[in-house]
Order: sequence, then structure tokens, then C-alpha cells
Amino acid sequence: MIPVCEPLIGDNVAPLVKACVDTGWVSSEGSYIREFEAKWSAYCGVAHGIAVANGTCALQIAVVALGLPPGSEIIMPSFTIISCAIAILEAGCVPVLVDAEPDTWNMNLDEVEAKITPRTRAIMPVHMFGHPVDMRRLKEIAKRHDLRLVEDAAESHGAESHGQRVGGIGDLGCFSFYANKIITTGEGGMVVTNDAGLADRCRSLRNLCFIPERRFLHREIGHNYRLTNIQAAIGVAQTERVDRHIEHKRFMAKAYRERLSGLPVTLPVERNWAKNVYWMYGAVLHDDIPFDAVEFAKRLRARGVDTRPLFLGMHEQPVLNERRLFAGERYPVTERLARRGLYLPSGLTLTEAQIDEVAGAVRNILS
Ligand SMILES: Cc1ncc(COP(=O)(O)O)c(C=O)c1O
Repeated sequence: MIPVCEPLIGDNVAPLVKACVDTGWVSSEGSYIREFEAKWSAYCGVAHGIAVANGTCALQIAVVALGLPPGSEIIMPSFTIISCAIAILEAGCVPVLVDAEPDTWNMNLDEVEAKITPRTRAIMPVHMFGHPVDMRRLKEIAKRHDLRLVEDAAESHGAESHGQRVGGIGDLGCFSFYANKIITTGEGGMVVTNDAGLADRCRSLRNLCFIPERRFLHREIGHNYRLTNIQAAIGVAQTERVDRHIEHKRFMAKAYRERLSGLPVTLPVERNWAKNVYWMYGAVLHDDIPFDAVEFAKRLRARGVDTRPLFLGMHEQPVLNERRLFAGERYPVTERLARRGLYLPSGLTLTEAQIDEVAGAVRNILS
């Protein structure tokens, strides 16, 4: 079976992890935390980084750090992971959805302004599957309506929107370093920002809102969302290799495109103002194919190719519908992606020979 994704843990990781073990700095107080924060935020072109336990809690503290009044509306894509909606709800805010673009799978910016109300306070663009959102255009919308921007760049390390790396463009940017991400710390995440005040808020929220004047006196509810020094050591080593990882992702995308174009599937695109880092290589079945993505995945599996489905829209989540969210709302592009799309093996250890095999299996099923 060709796996859908395997991480690439380089030979530069083990010496740094060994240093943590040898020195006993294994929890969140070691020097690799600060080094990882400094190196990753510098890579993103911003001043501050706050390392946390995963991408979901990065989003949670980023939204809370904005200090929005309860009931504030935050516009987000329907086509994404539930982490985005959870972060908004846990901050006492209300998620408001817009549909996806059929080709980039990012939130459709044409629909954003129609969703702005007097209660809207922020927008959460999610850079989907490696393709950046048009942040120049979104920033103009945000500026015109005085809205904050929280970027979710979990899947798009190093992607560029009009020449600027994602995560470092809005008020706050959030990353995941889960094992299937472009760089990984096993589990892990980071918030990055240029705003020193927001950075301080995130640092406090990450660590139970301790206050400097008196240890164990608390005026706010925080969380233990700390990353360990061991994970940060892996992150430092992985950051050294991020450009190499992105180069391989782009190589794999080109190899897939050459082998799959002409088949009845829609493949990832790259807008002329964008650098797509092709986190995972997706394929969406054309409507004339008489089966859906579940059947497509089954047939690929029978030929030794592992795949994953695409996200199911937020408006189709029972747990959110039970909270009376998105009742009766429809997002046709999201619904179609969920039913007709999947992603192919795209891990950093994938070889060109394996891409040949995957493409052969896809061709065999679709022709
Ligand atoms: C777009 C997006 N946001 C947030 C997350 C959450 O990150 P984590 O799994 O590290 O909590 C993910 C997922 O993996 C993701 O794909």
C-alpha cells in the first residue's frame, strides 16, 4: 500500500532531541522553545512566535487574544476543519460561513462582504491545502470594515500571497505542526504576530494566565497549551529543512499534473499572484463520472493506493447544527468537494516511481 502521507524526519533531528534528554530540559522551559519561536516567526517575516501544543489551540488562543465582545461574528470558510469553528465558539463568538472557490478551495472572497453585519469583528481565512488566500484583497475588505484577521496557515507553511508568506499577513497567524504537515513536531502549533500586545496575551493564555507579580494568583482563565522542549528541538531541525520540503511538494505536484491532466478530474491550481506549496495533492471527480469519492477511494485502495477524503462542510456538522448554527444554509461548492474530492499520496517520502504507480491506478479507474 502506498501511504497517503509519511513525515520526513531528517538526520538533523536526533542530535537536538538527544541534547534535551541529556540535559534534562524535557518540558516547556528549555531553550529550543525560544529558538523555534524565533526561527519560525522569522521565516514567516514576523516579530513574535508563541509555540503551543497543536494547531487547534493556536487558533483558540489567537481568537481569545483579540478580546472581542461576546456574540461577535467571525467570518470563516464552510470548507475547513472543525478546529476553526471550535476556536470561534470557545471565545464566545459566532462563526459565519462563506462557501469555497471551486478551484483553489479557499473561501470565496466575493461572498465575504455580503456576510458582514454590525456584529462582525473578524475574518478567519484558511489557506487551504497549500494555496494561499488572496490576502491583498482580503486586507482591503478588512480595512474598509475595520475587522481583524486571524490566518489559519496550518496546511500552508511557506505559501505566498502576492510575495508575502502566509501566517505573517493578518493580525495573527496560526500553524499546525502535526505529523502530516510540511514541517512537523509530532504534535505542535504556533501563533505568530507582529503585535507585541497580542503576543503577550497569547503567551499568558498558553500558560494558565499566570501573572508576573504573584505566582499562583490568577485574574483570567488560561490553558496549559505548552509545547515541550523536545518537540521544539524537532521544530528547530525541521525549520532548517522547510524550503527543501516545499521544493519536494512542488516537484510532486508537477509530477502528478503531468501524469493526470486530461483525465476527468479537477486538479490543484496556482493563481498568478500565489505560491502554492501543495500540502496534499487533491483530485475532484468530474460530474460525468458515475461514482463518488468514497467509491473512488475504495477502487484506489484495491490497487494499493491510500487516500483521504476532503473536509465535510461546517454547515453539515451535527454537533454545530445542534447548537442551532447554519440551519438551512447550503454551500454547494463545499458540498461538492466533500462528495467528489479526495487527496492522493503526498507525503515527503513519496518517490517518483510511486507517483507513477498512483497515476497509473487513477488512469486505470477513470479511463
Ligand atoms: C486548516 C487546519 N486548521 C487547523 C488544524 C488543526 O491543527 P492540529 O491538528 O495541530 O490541531 C488543521 C489540521 O490538522 C488544519 O488542516
